[in-house]
Amino acid sequence: MDASHGTSATTATLTVGNESWDLPILKGTVGPDVVDIGKLYGQTGMFTYDPGFTSTASCESQITYIDGDQGILLYRGYPIEQLAENGDFLETCYLLLYGELPTAAQKADFDYRVTRHTMVHEQMNRFFHGFRRDAHPMAVLVASVGALSAFYHDSTDISDPQQRMIASIRMIAKIPTLAAMAYKYSIGQPFVYPKNDLDYASNFLNMCFSVPCEEYKANPILSRAIDRIFILHADHEQNASTSTVRLAGSSGANPFACIAAGIACLWGPAHGGANEAALKMLGEIGSVERIPEFINRAKDKNDPFRLMGFGHRVYKNYDPRAKIMQHTTHEVLGELGIKDDPLLDIAIELERIALQDEYFVERKLYPNIDFYSGITLRALGFPTSMFTVLFALARTVGWIGQWKEMIEDPSQRIGRPRQLYTGSTHRDYVPMARRK
Ligand code: SDX
Repeated sequence: MDASHGTSATTATLTVGNESWDLPILKGTVGPDVVDIGKLYGQTGMFTYDPGFTSTASCESQITYIDGDQGILLYRGYPIEQLAENGDFLETCYLLLYGELPTAAQKADFDYRVTRHTMVHEQMNRFFHGFRRDAHPMAVLVASVGALSAFYHDSTDISDPQQRMIASIRMIAKIPTLAAMAYKYSIGQPFVYPKNDLDYASNFLNMCFSVPCEEYKANPILSRAIDRIFILHADHEQNASTSTVRLAGSSGANPFACIAAGIACLWGPAHGGANEAALKMLGEIGSVERIPEFINRAKDKNDPFRLMGFGHRVYKNYDPRAKIMQHTTHEVLGELGIKDDPLLDIAIELERIALQDEYFVERKLYPNIDFYSGITLRALGFPTSMFTVLFALARTVGWIGQWKEMIEDPSQRIGRPRQLYTGSTHRDYVPMARRK
């Protein structure tokens, strides 16, 4: 059976003892077939068991396709390499939301709509001032995105398609503003308002790096680089944070609250927090000479250390995004005149050594998107604490697109997994006096 092209069979048979059940096999346009187990419990009284969802398709989707063995990533069928090379982030947002590349008129209209939703309610400023200045920007972002549902009541009725689209546009438009506010707040500088005459990426850089004392001149090469980084991070099928958004949305929760749940999940170091952790790891390694020591630690089962930015649940080949990110790293460092970045030297040597090491080769562990992104973002002027915030900024369109797809799926029901229970069976209450 070829997982990337499915089987010719239309049913799978499950046999337990002397009983058998036929389960339908469903086929996608590309990728592994699925065995529909929706009626399994009713037929057999048994659940399936797959805690990390390594073999479980949680939904049907038409947005993003990943072939982990080939290192392929398609957004609505278009290869990530072509989108990153030829389009801009808002074109990718349109594609992910509407399913087709926009015409020139559609793109201009979309850009206009997003641009005019970039401001946040002025009252949000006071909301920020409740945080300590040293709060992690991800904590501030989770809270402020969740707080949007306290401000935009006119786009929280998820049964209204118009409100769903307004909420989607608002999220895409306001997430850079909130991300920049989280950064400015953490460094004690005044918030910078969006500027409608700047493109999405330049506007974000301006809101982050402009100060009242002097104009910020967005470097087009750097704006293009951050725009491309947003494209690379925009969506990625049913990853942990997207699955969180879908599960939260399946209860009917408003989109802002669902996106806040996705941001919370992304924060973890095994997921979107890996870019921050990878740069910290490169700093901890400190020199090319110490790489073997850390490679050995990563292989030592008794050591919790892992190579951050390496490995992936789906990619068992080079993450196509990591290749583009590595190219962008060299482009940004070149534009900034950074001749040799010791962390980049360590990253390149670490990758070289790891990709020749049996442990990594055997487990098909390759650099993922987080391996090089930190070096690029640091060169652009962002502190490590902002790296996952930028990941969340870019992934917001993926989350909102997947949320919309789920809400608009007529077969959509509340997500409610079951369990394998291994706790105590029935036992009666013991009064305090009789407890030992
Ligand atoms: C992202 O899902 C997505 O699509 C996520 C993402 C997206 O765009 O949304 O692509 C973004 O989250 C990328 C991944 C960022 N995380 C990291 O870089 C953290 C380091 N990587 C690992 O924690 C790990 O590789 C995961 C979490 C990414 C994947 O974990 P899995 O699929 O559960 O794999 P596993 O932990 O079962 O590992 C398989 C084997 C194990 O060894 P054995 O028990 O078989 O001997 O590989 C080893 C692991 O110990 N291993 C590593 C390793 N990653 C896996 N060993 C050392 N260093 C690593 N980085």
